[in-house]
Amino acid sequence: MQDFSMAFIGGGNMAGAIIGGLRQAGVEPARMLVVEPQAEQRERLRERFGVQSLAQPDASLGAIDVLVWAVKPQQFRQAAQGLRERAPGASDGLHLSIMAGVRCAAITRLAGARRVVRAMPNTPALIGRGVAGLVANPACGAAERARAEQVLAPTGELVWVDDEPALDAVTALSGSGPAYMFYVLEAMIAAGVGLGLPESVAQRLASGTMAGAAALAAGSPATPAQLREQVTSKGGTTAAALEVLGARDVAGAFDAALRAAARRAVELADALEREAGD
Ligand SMILES: NC(=O)c1ccc[n+]([C@@H]2O[C@H](COP(=O)([O-])OP(=O)(O)OC[C@H]3O[C@@H](n4cnc5c(N)ncnc54)[C@H](OP(=O)(O)O)[C@@H]3O)[C@@H](O)[C@H]2O)c1
Repeated sequence: MQDFSMAFIGGGNMAGAIIGGLRQAGVEPARMLVVEPQAEQRERLRERFGVQSLAQPDASLGAIDVLVWAVKPQQFRQAAQGLRERAPGASDGLHLSIMAGVRCAAITRLAGARRVVRAMPNTPALIGRGVAGLVANPACGAAERARAEQVLAPTGELVWVDDEPALDAVTALSGSGPAYMFYVLEAMIAAGVGLGLPESVAQRLASGTMAGAAALAAGSPATPAQLREQVTSKGGTTAAALEVLGARDVAGAFDAALRAAARRAVELADALEREAGD
């Protein structure tokens, strides 16, 4: 159970999912504050979770232990400026960012933060089934890492990486990953329909297969390659399909796709920094 205070800068989808999860885990609403400019959104957060909110930062944020940055990346610059002007003491807290593509150095520079943990979640976080990569800047120690984990625990699994460039790889793999899985699902459903199955049946079969295979892989000591080999008998149906996937170099396509995503993550972070530095 948390024994520290949190303020969410931005009270949108992700902040709502985290706050909801923390409330379910028994965290008192009094420990959480939200800064959110939209009155409707503030009212919704108060009704659903009983948390207090502010339309803009005030000096009370100076006493907060963890500031969670949950605004859109392009909103960060203005939000950081507001925080510095109205709550200069907030630079002492741990700054935990879930914003895509905003580097620790930008958070240090624009928000005046010293201790920064950056997380890259993915959309299943909204139902507590996400997986996020995390990186801490050198000013953070074990206590800061533990706090970041406690705040983000409701979003799903958390995986620490050693440095910030690795977070670009995380973005390419798991950050954008749900879209690749949806793409595979779409293709399998279309193929099932092509074989004569009703779409609703193809959808249930494809989704169930993906969920079941992922659960099997997660719970098994065998590698995905071993699991694949176990269900691929020589001359059988699976072998016939895998031969086609191999011939079309689907693995190579995934490699190129993830490289493209990682490159784009770097480009977008660079662009945000250029914009913020002008
Ligand atoms: N959704 C995901 O699955 C996911 C995955 C990975 C990373 N992320 C990251 O999580 C962050 C939040 O995403 P989201 O989907 O929760 O976005 P969102 O629903 O748009 O939430 C952002 C909220 O912050 C508010 N806001 C704007 N300017 C502000 C300011 N100066 N101070 C305080 N609040 C302000 C926005 O209000 P307005 O609507 O009025 O602008 C909005 O309600 C993003 O940086 C995104 O990159 C999200």
